[in-house]
Amino acid sequence: MRVTAILDSIRQSASTAPSLNAFEEEVVKIVSQQLQHYDWVGFYMLDPNDAGTLVLGPFVGEPTPHVRIPVHQGICGAAVAARSTIVVDDVKADPRYLSCSIKTRSEIVVPIFCREQVVGELDIDSHTPAAFTDADRAFLEEVARMVGSRIEDHQK
Ligand code: SME
Repeated sequence: MRVTAILDSIRQSASTAPSLNAFEEEVVKIVSQQLQHYDWVGFYMLDPNDAGTLVLGPFVGEPTPHVRIPVHQGICGAAVAARSTIVVDDVKADPRYLSCSIKTRSEIVVPIFCREQVVGELDIDSHTPAAFTDADRAFLEEVARMVGSRIEDHQK
């Protein structure tokens, strides 16, 4: 499936999924099935009762010990602080990296915004070094925009 078709099916799911959790489950399923170099695909959302902590949401891939991540830790925390996408070509060379699998070689973390506030992020790991190109970044930022829009639409 081409990227435009993947985005279309995610857009479709945004309008039909019965809940945000169901939508996020669809997103991780579609994205991980269609993009073979995405070996772990998941959401971390800021805890509504504790804005200093990210909480693991729907994911596809190996179970991770990092179910709650303080926002000052990990690549995940760094993306919240930076309010922008972080791409790590070699996780072993990045002291911020929190390991989920010894097979992981590269990672991309894309923040999700709702009314200009970071509310969570999409986290992808790959077993391939430097797996994430500008095209992956543009694609995942579009997915993150759709998730942010869905959250906004259901808060109106
Ligand atoms: N690698 C992330 C932690 C999440 S797991 O990879 C799923 C980090 O450094 O924040």
